[in-house]
Amino acid sequence: MIEPLARARQLVTAQMQKVQLRMLPELLVGPGSLYDVQDVLRDQDIRCVMIVTTEGFVKRGVVPSFTQDLLSHGITSAVFSEVTPDPDVECVEKAAAFYRSRGCEGIVAIGGGSVMDCAKIAGALAVKPNKRALDLVGTMKVRTSLPYLVAVPTTAGTGSEVTAAAVLTDPERQRKYAVSDIALIPDVAVLDPNLLLGLSPEMTAYTGMDALTHAVEAYTNRYGSREARVYARRAVEIVFKDLKASYDDGRDASLRENMLIASYYAGIAFTNNMVGYVHALAHGIGGRYHVQHGLANAVLLPVVLEEFGVAAEPRLARLGEAIGLGGASDHELAAGFIAAIRELAASMGIPETIPEIRAEDIPELAAGAEAEGNPAYPVPVVWSQADFERVLRRVLAEEAQEEATAGEPQSAAIEPATAAEAAAERAPSNRKVKVAAAGAVAAASAAMMIAKAKKRR
Ligand SMILES: [Fe+2]
Repeated sequence: MIEPLARARQLVTAQMQKVQLRMLPELLVGPGSLYDVQDVLRDQDIRCVMIVTTEGFVKRGVVPSFTQDLLSHGITSAVFSEVTPDPDVECVEKAAAFYRSRGCEGIVAIGGGSVMDCAKIAGALAVKPNKRALDLVGTMKVRTSLPYLVAVPTTAGTGSEVTAAAVLTDPERQRKYAVSDIALIPDVAVLDPNLLLGLSPEMTAYTGMDALTHAVEAYTNRYGSREARVYARRAVEIVFKDLKASYDDGRDASLRENMLIASYYAGIAFTNNMVGYVHALAHGIGGRYHVQHGLANAVLLPVVLEEFGVAAEPRLARLGEAIGLGGASDHELAAGFIAAIRELAASMGIPETIPEIRAEDIPELAAGAEAEGNPAYPVPVVWSQADFERVLRRVLAEEAQEEATAGEPQSAAIEPATAAEAAAERAPSNRKVKVAAAGAVAAASAAMMIAKAKKRR
């Protein structure tokens, strides 16, 4: 697509998406808030719900105590625990059939991104019985209210509890597709940190980096709303303050709660301002090699930002300032911010390459990313397939990289990477102070949201 045409389309879409900022779910926040769900269900006169979760989560013992609590308040439940990672067509259609067969009146999704995706698409199919799951792929294909949907995340990363999107895997084409419709925004989001206390450090890192990617892509995209950028910036501040600490001490409920809030903010930001090419690439890599989504994002994020070059620098510089970096120019601040992303990822054992990628798959992966990203994502620079291929070669495992780049000219991204290293050396001196201030912002806004949620109840 010719760039001016793509930009015009993105501008119109961005205006339409602003309405979503007025459609946020009701929020329940704090330890034990899962057990307030019966309150909102009774308000809606719902007497039977489908609980969508995974077998693994059922084994942790929360689901039986939750269903017992619902029953003691007169609400019966039917547990669908067959959600698979990256739910495919078969999985979501099975969940929809389960919902209909049990006479449910609402859905409570308890889990990570895969559970939320499954619950949303199953809910859409429940009200669209004549449609197949793949019919819903794309934008505004649902256009009917879903059953009452309560989203309870057990990871802090997808932000799916507030977004208008769900991801569906098509095993035949080995690709993930987005189903986007404002009807998919859940009615209630429950941020209960107790549910995350058993999450492994590895998953804490991957999902936290997914939240960071949502926030950074939403912040650097063009045309989006300023309000959504405020949420994105706060999410970035919280991630830099609390993700590593949460990775180190997964039993700290207040850190878990802060990361849930960061993920929620990032979700608001990207459901309005969209994601970008990091996600376009990660969806193809996830679909083909089953690389964990947040891990793929974490590796790709600094590379994609470097490849955007000067066009992304002003916004990246503001994010650098938000996490307390200093610099004499936007170029230095942006490079410092990219270096800080690398530093954060490395501190949690995240590598800089994706060894699963095979050099011979690169043209197809790049073509898929281009098809997903253009014109859908209002990124700072519109790329061609060759640009996507260059990024993919940069994240190949070292040996494959040598083979793939033999005889090719060096990438233009070498200079910013060097600048990033230089800025990283200067960064620690003033980062500490600003991060503490960011924490206060996060705590204040969290308190505000809790107060709001209590008022609603
Ligand atoms: Fe994501």
